[in-house]
Amino acid sequence: MWKFDRPRNEADQILSYEPGSPEREALAAAVEELKRAPASLPLMIDGREVWTDDVVEIRAPHDRRLLLGQACLAGPAELEAAVASALEAHRTWSRLPWPQRAAVFQRAADLLSGPRRMAHLAAIMLNQSKTPYEAEIDLAELVDFWRYNVWFLNAIYGEQPEQGYREINRFDWRPLEGFVLAISPFNFYSIGGNLPTAPVLCGNVALWKPARSVLLCNHEIQKLLVEAGLPAGVLNFVPFASRSGGAVLSHPDLAGLHFTGSYETFVELQRQIGMNMAHYRSFPRVVGETGGKDFLFVHASADAVAVGANIVRGAFEYQGQKCSAVSRVYMAESLWPQVRDYLLREVADLPVGPTENLTNFMGAVIDEEAFDRIGLWLDRIRDHPESYELLVGGGRDASEGWFIEPTVVVARDPKDRIMREEIFGPLVAVYLYPDEAFEKTLHLCDASTEFALTGALFARDREAIAAAEEILRHSAGNFYINDKPTGAVVGRQPFGGSRHSGTNDKAGYRANLLRWLSPRLIKENT
Ligand code: SER
Repeated sequence: MWKFDRPRNEADQILSYEPGSPEREALAAAVEELKRAPASLPLMIDGREVWTDDVVEIRAPHDRRLLLGQACLAGPAELEAAVASALEAHRTWSRLPWPQRAAVFQRAADLLSGPRRMAHLAAIMLNQSKTPYEAEIDLAELVDFWRYNVWFLNAIYGEQPEQGYREINRFDWRPLEGFVLAISPFNFYSIGGNLPTAPVLCGNVALWKPARSVLLCNHEIQKLLVEAGLPAGVLNFVPFASRSGGAVLSHPDLAGLHFTGSYETFVELQRQIGMNMAHYRSFPRVVGETGGKDFLFVHASADAVAVGANIVRGAFEYQGQKCSAVSRVYMAESLWPQVRDYLLREVADLPVGPTENLTNFMGAVIDEEAFDRIGLWLDRIRDHPESYELLVGGGRDASEGWFIEPTVVVARDPKDRIMREEIFGPLVAVYLYPDEAFEKTLHLCDASTEFALTGALFARDREAIAAAEEILRHSAGNFYINDKPTGAVVGRQPFGGSRHSGTNDKAGYRANLLRWLSPRLIKENT
């Protein structure tokens, strides 16, 4: 069997921060190139560009005047064509020797890590409003997904059942029959790139519906895969309005859904799939990651500076729009004065602004809807001083882009909405508990919300760590001790949550790939 070496994680901070360095110049040139003229972004069906009249505008979140592109949306006719082309491509792609499939993603990873790097970083920065630092993390994660998935799949293909007396047993690791629908979110270009390609690497074919706000950078991924040699029809790039999706979801050949997005949307998609269940040729595999209300829990034995630094990074990097971002903090009262001083000092001065400016720590939130939704929380904080103490932030400015100040608020009631509901913005709520109520507060943390994506504990006391691990067993799919709950690295921290946060099939791990395989067991008597 053809063997792959264990990959190394792609370095995610290779840009020099020296103004005037050749890399910086190259990145600045790539940014200017994107700004020069808005791109026209077609669909890609059966290897061909397809243009429609249903078009959406893509604007830079931090500069509303900056039109980055106009992207076509698919209607029912295009979706029907995309399904037909995928099913046709299935015949050859699913039978291709798998190292040839793997080679496409190895090439794509090499391109992204090398010659295409600057263009993709620029697209991420402008389209998602990510700082160069965050854009590099995002890009490196996609390189990792592609390289690690090859390595994981290689191991899976090597697995065989036990042999018996005069019988030979083997697995034929088939892909699913039919097509997979991948629906990806705005916040990670890497998730956009991984959702359709993890099934495709396994021999499946896919339709990909990226979030409409990030069609510019997701279109770049699609073009890169074509350049890397992905054959026509295997992955069809078909953003569509939800009103057009019915025929895809009820198609008898729908074999899987690979989703990252909101809890409500995932529930609705599963409802539709459930209603169509009798029409499908196979039970569709449904894999999803949804919302979070991620916590950072601080024991009195924790290091106050580490706590402060990780609240800042966990809550405010990428404007708090990571599914893993810190949104609620449970703080031992005795440590609060030190952490409070740290936050007052650091957060008020965090630079917020256009992400091309290298010194900015935060860009804008993704769009007007997000700006308004988070704005309602800021209004609520301002209007209810009896419930909240605003420590720092609280402002917003939409004059040029969708900017929200990093905001820290103390919530007096641990059961307040702000400690339970997803916000998805640069706003973190802190509840102060008496030191002696540590275990009681752990139970409160567990019971406060339906979500269970990520969480972090800061403590130096071993007994406290053990108690938290036990009591918070089901509170997070990714649990971090003395680290922020963001920034999972492919291969090292397989990522996913349970309860209302998803099916916990762990992106960046073999468990996810197993969901896109339907093994046939073959027994032969000898
Ligand atoms: N994987 C990302 C993180 O860990 C979230 O999607 O921050």
